[in-house]
Amino acid sequence: MNSRGSWGSKVGFILAASGSAVGLGNIWRFPYTAGKNGGALFVLIYLIAVVIIAFPVLLAEVSLGRHTGKNPVGAFKAIAPKGMWKLIGYLGVITGIMILSYYAVVAGWTVGYLFKSITGKFQNITNQIAESNFSEFISSSFLQVILLAVFLFLTVYIVSKGIASGIEKFSKILMPLLLAILFLLLIRSLTLEGAMKGLEFYLKPDFSKLSPKVILDAMGQAFFSLSLGMGTMITYGSYVSKSEDLPSSSAWIAFFDTFIAIIAGFIIFPAIFSQGMNPAGGPGLVFNILPVIFSKIPGGIMFGSLFFALLSIAALTSTISLLEVPVAFLIDEKRWSRKKSVIVVGLITFIFGVPSALSTGGVKFFSKLPIVGKSFFDLWDFLWGNLSLSIGAFFIAIFVGYVWKASKALIEISHGTEKFRFASFWMISIKFISPVIILLIFLSFIL
Ligand code: PHE
Repeated sequence: MNSRGSWGSKVGFILAASGSAVGLGNIWRFPYTAGKNGGALFVLIYLIAVVIIAFPVLLAEVSLGRHTGKNPVGAFKAIAPKGMWKLIGYLGVITGIMILSYYAVVAGWTVGYLFKSITGKFQNITNQIAESNFSEFISSSFLQVILLAVFLFLTVYIVSKGIASGIEKFSKILMPLLLAILFLLLIRSLTLEGAMKGLEFYLKPDFSKLSPKVILDAMGQAFFSLSLGMGTMITYGSYVSKSEDLPSSSAWIAFFDTFIAIIAGFIIFPAIFSQGMNPAGGPGLVFNILPVIFSKIPGGIMFGSLFFALLSIAALTSTISLLEVPVAFLIDEKRWSRKKSVIVVGLITFIFGVPSALSTGGVKFFSKLPIVGKSFFDLWDFLWGNLSLSIGAFFIAIFVGYVWKASKALIEISHGTEKFRFASFWMISIKFISPVIILLIFLSFIL
């Protein structure tokens, strides 16, 4: 047990799990996915999905992890030694590698933007200049691959040092600082001329836009943002002590994560509309608008640099958790050393990351794949960041609800908590609401 490690302190789990949850998913992916899906309606569905599906799945994952003390593959095997269930664990291990492969590309952008900000590239910038800067930046093949390599190397280095010392240290003090800068940006953005139109887009749902695709995207985003559906929270749960209050920790994590995403939207959309930019602009949305906001803030160079530094660190605590899943699998199931596991997985991830790094303009083929018509990056984000997580969450709900059994899971959940007030809500969600809704959304695409 000791060789796997465990959290050094009681709050260690909350800090590290929110470190995993809070990342580019909140500040980069949430706003652009909301923008692509018409704004307010997406936000509304997202919030509903967090409460009725994602939070219950989070609790299911963490309790499964704590109960078995295992990585995702080991956790399924521990409860259902025979049968196919462990395949869900394997899917999680692969999904971790695949998400990490393109997530690290975007994390590389934050590092690139840190340097741009420090060197004053964002001074007196207009939105046209910001947009052309960004597209020039992401289409530089060499730079993109280097930044990917740098970020992966950092992740590999920290994960190789182990759980408590590696992960906890980083997630402790920096989140509040990130939040403080977000509030600064929020004030600036809301006071820009024309900000109202952005607020309307963000807050006034247009129900005629309702479609299965909006629901799928919102649900997928909820899983992505809370690091669910691939066993990250099973793995992190396996390092949690029996005395930890799982319902309240999980509720805090879900709340904190959602809060930051919502704030990010309040920053991005008023600014986007005030500058007459397109809210459906895709993955570059945040990187196109933030420099413009910073250029309109006194001390923008300093705040901009600090912001991108903190965002890189927030991304790092997420990439650490992505890498930890395949690594914990190799350590537990294959008896590899942590060091060997980390290096091998790091290299595989890099190989898969290169096409993503080259698909934002660098290499034509990857930027617009034949047949699918989108970039390798967009395809990967959809396949792994959305579909695979939703499939994983579906099977985790079924597994915990019916194979392990919700009543037994409840016993595990209740260790360390005085009274779990939402026990029956949780049970209904995990057995019925979550699996049925996920299944219906999938069916609506197939039929
Ligand atoms: N939740 C992280 C974020 O929002 C990304 C992530 C997804 C991490 C899945 C682990 C597992 O940035």
